[in-house]
This record gives sequence, structure tokens and C-alpha cells, in this order.
Amino acid sequence: MRGIVWNGKEATVETDLTVRDIRAGEVRVRIEAAGLCHSDVSVLNGTIMFPPPVVLGHEGAGVVTQVAADVTNVKVGDHVVLSTLGNCGQCGACDRGKPTFCRQSLGKLSRPFCLGDQKVFQFANLGVFTEETVVKATQAIAIPDDVPLTSASLIGCGVLTGVGAVFNRAKVSHGESVVVIGVGGIGLNAIQGAALADALPVIAIDTNPTKETYAKAFGATHFLCPGPDDDVVEMVKEICPNGVDYVFECVGATPLIRAATDMLDWGGTVVMLGVPKMGSEASFVVNTMYNDKTIMGCRYGSARPQYDIPLMVRLYRQGRLKLDELVSATYDLADFQQALDELHEGRLARGVLTVQS
Ligand SMILES: NC(=O)c1ccc[n+]([C@@H]2O[C@H](COP(=O)([O-])OP(=O)(O)OC[C@H]3O[C@@H](n4cnc5c(N)ncnc54)[C@H](O)[C@@H]3O)[C@@H](O)[C@H]2O)c1
Ligand SMILES: [Zn+2]
Ligand SMILES: [Zn+2]
Repeated sequence: MRGIVWNGKEATVETDLTVRDIRAGEVRVRIEAAGLCHSDVSVLNGTIMFPPPVVLGHEGAGVVTQVAADVTNVKVGDHVVLSTLGNCGQCGACDRGKPTFCRQSLGKLSRPFCLGDQKVFQFANLGVFTEETVVKATQAIAIPDDVPLTSASLIGCGVLTGVGAVFNRAKVSHGESVVVIGVGGIGLNAIQGAALADALPVIAIDTNPTKETYAKAFGATHFLCPGPDDDVVEMVKEICPNGVDYVFECVGATPLIRAATDMLDWGGTVVMLGVPKMGSEASFVVNTMYNDKTIMGCRYGSARPQYDIPLMVRLYRQGRLKLDELVSATYDLADFQQALDELHEGRLARGVLTVQS
């Protein structure tokens, strides 16, 4: 089968990839659509260190084609959104509703794929830039058949991460002020999460002026496009002179984390969603933080996939959550490079690879 494999030097479209048989507790999923998240790009440029060879892609949806005898949560034919959390479902963290804290949820590398006689890893417990993958059954969350899989795929990372950061981590309340830095797939979902939470204002910031249309369509009340000589903190304070309640950093740049702390009102919170290069350090002026300010990290929107994925689908079906509008372009898997180029050019909310040949 076809798949995008990162070999440590380049990402190539392979045609003779295979995936191993399922084991107890696992399912096989035919991938129909897979979104291109910046975290995949970060593997290619070394920002995220992942051992090669690896099948990329971690934001996918498809159809269950095989289930192990002990699996009861999904059946063959179910449409599913895939979760990157390989959490165990049995530990204290899982039991208290914090699957992102489960020690099984991150860093347990598996190699279900083969290229010739070489075993190949799956990125982020998934590897969805290929025709079929094998995952834990708990990573496959059934959704209604009438939700287009191209749109549904984006729930698996961008939507859960951005909306989840607002709902689950920051817990933004109505009337609170929000800044979102970086209007990509993650930032747009933080914007629509903030709009759903009735935050006001919702100020979007991006250095690419074309992102204004997306930002406003997803609920931003203001769009700021700082040039190289502009002071983005001052630009925010022209709108909110005392600063804002929440800043979501959705780029992964340490100077922006510092700028985010300088944008906070007393009692305000920075939520770090962007992923800078491993080992990066950020700084802030300590005495600016004394007025009960907070800096928090947030992985995967602090999501509980079995709860949050169906919730996102319900909000979408009610017309309250935008998914179709996130899909700016679809590409055949073989056009992966074009999708990368158009992401870099800033043309996309999300680009989605349609995987089946
Ligand atoms: N915390 C998590 O669990 C999690 C999950 C997924 C992705 N991420 C990370 O989130 C980040 C964003 O991912 P994405 O898929 O939205 O990326 P993206 O490429 O779609 O969007 C990034 C946006 O940031 C903008 N930008 C770049 N430099 C900027 C600057 N100096 N000021 C303002 N805007 C700037 C770009 O123009 C672009 O619109 C990445 O670092 C990714 O690895 C984190
Ligand atoms: Zn992602
Ligand atoms: Zn667990």
C-alpha cells in the first residue's frame, strides 16, 4: 500500500508498505482522510525528534476493517476518528479522566509497518498518511456515517487541541478576553473555541495578512498583522489597555511566549500550544507575573477523546463548530509535497490528504 515515510533525510511516497496483523485489543482502520498538522512538518525539520523510518500523519479518520476478538467499542464498518493517545484506560490517570497524563499515552513507540524487510514506526501512535493502520481499539472513536471523513479527520488533532485548550485547560468563561497567536489549524480552533465560550474580544494575531479572512470567519473580533518593526504587545494593548485574560500561543516560538506574558492582564493566563525545538528555553520578567498570572502547557487540548470527539461531532451537527470550513484543500497522497508547500506559503487552514488510491 501507499504511504508517506520519513527516512531521516526526506519524506517519500512509498508504494510497497505493509502493516502487521492486529493483536488483542487492536483494530485495523482503512484511512480515508488525513490532515497535515504542523507537528508532521516539525518531524521533517527536526523540531520534533522522532526516530526514522516512520509513517507520518496523526490526524485521521477512516473505516474499521478488522477488530480483534476482544474488542467491543467499535465494529467492522464503523466510521471512526482516530485519537493519538495510546492511553491504557486502566491507570490512575486514565481513571481520573486525564488520559493525556497516562504514561502509556506518549513515547511508547511501535513499528506496525514494514517497508521491504525494514520495520517502520507509526508517528504519534497512528501513522495515518497511509492506506491502513493498526491502532489500539480505544484510539478509534465511532462517529455517525453522515459526517464527511475529510472534515472529521481534523477533529483528531487540530480541533481537539485548539478547542480543547479553551474548554478543558484554560476553561475560558463568557466575556473573558482572548488573544490567539498564530492562525493555523491549531490557532483557528482556539479562536472558534473562544467564540463558542463567548469570549470577548477574541484577538487573532498572524504575520501573514491572508489569515485575516480565516480568523474572522472562525470568530475573531479583531485581527492584528504585526510587521517586523511593530510591537505586538502594544498593538494588543491598544484594544485592551490592561491586557487580556488568556493568550494562546499557537506558533511554537519562544519570543512569542515572552510577548504573550507581556499581554496578560492581572490574573491572566498564557496557554502554550506551539511546540518549539526540543530543549528550547523561554524567559519572562518575574515581577510582571506576581499579579496572579499563570503560564501553562497544554498537550492535545487536555482531551478525553472518548468524550470530546463525540462532543465535537455533536457541535458540528448543530452548526456550532466549523469543520468543513477548515478544509482549504484536499490532495492525493502522492501530492504530499504540494500540500507541504501550500502550508508553508500560508494558504491553508488545513490541507487534507485523501489517502485511498
Ligand atoms: N500542544 C499540542 O498538543 C499540539 C498539537 C498540535 C500541534 N501543535 C503545535 O502547534 C503549532 C501550530 O501548528 P499548526 O498546525 O496550527 O501550524 P500552521 O503551520 O497551520 O500555522 C502556524 C501559523 O503561525 C503563523 N506564524 C508564524 N510565525 C508567526 C509569528 N511570529 N507571529 C504570528 N504568527 C506567526 C503562520 O503564519 C501560520 O498561520 C506547531 O508548533 C505544532 O507543532 C501542538
Ligand atoms: Zn497535530
Ligand atoms: Zn492509563
